[in-house]
Amino acid sequence: MSLDQLMAWVPAGSAEAELARQIHPDRLPRHVAIIMDGNGRWAGERHLPRVEGHRAGIDAVRDVVETSARLGLEVLTLYAFSVENWKRPIAEVSTLMLLLKRYLRAELATLLTNNIRFNVIGRSNELAPDVLEELGAAEHKTSRNTGMLFNIALNYGGRTEILDAARRAIASGIRPEALDEQTFSEFLYTKNQPDPDLLIRTSGEMRVSNFLLWQIAYAEIYVTETFWPDFRCRHLLEAILAYQKRDRRYGGIPPATVGAGAGGRGL
Ligand code: FPP
Repeated sequence: MSLDQLMAWVPAGSAEAELARQIHPDRLPRHVAIIMDGNGRWAGERHLPRVEGHRAGIDAVRDVVETSARLGLEVLTLYAFSVENWKRPIAEVSTLMLLLKRYLRAELATLLTNNIRFNVIGRSNELAPDVLEELGAAEHKTSRNTGMLFNIALNYGGRTEILDAARRAIASGIRPEALDEQTFSEFLYTKNQPDPDLLIRTSGEMRVSNFLLWQIAYAEIYVTETFWPDFRCRHLLEAILAYQKRDRRYGGIPPATVGAGAGGRGL
């Protein structure tokens, strides 16, 4: 997929088409990760039960997944359920799981048409058997796709992931001296995937919330006030345009200032 595929999909002359036109295809983030937040507040503003916010959030998931694949992103990761989310009322947890199953059933054809490979990250073995079965079927049916990798973070925690990786590393018998950042990252759930270049959080909260703690070391963070159920193609393109204006330094200094006495400021 490529920017052309996106241009063919968005209505000609629309705000989305204008935003897509401004994107530099050669400077796309390889991996975009999103903390989908604000479903409860979206529902609250409409005097609806919280779960209606999650239900409306599915439309946003659908739009963002297809936009990302058409745009040509390599990896999209959505934070759907954290290890902490079990503390929510049982009815809300059950609805989230039900929505997830429905989404997978309804969207499988779109995932296949768009050559998207579906993958779960997190302690998925702790999920209910019916959910696991649905997830496994979607992973299996899309496993030969060669386009965008769509990670869904479920029963996911960044610290839990690092702990699980440490346990796997120890169990593998690797010599401590052989363990460096590269080899350690091969024990993470995101093995062989590029780290996120862009982390988006909706609903204005300025928190990382235990998401991809290892992998976001150098990610650019973009926070939008938009609640997740209202987030669409247009908002994703705006985030990518903002990302393309950032000056990524990875702890170094901008090339123009090398030797100009301005070094050492940027983190
Ligand atoms: C945060 O909003 C959102 C979640 C905990 C769940 C996100 C899940 C979905 C959008 C639906 C299922 C996902 C997929 C991929 C099919 P919140 O409830 O914390 O909102 P609040 O901060 O306004 O209360």
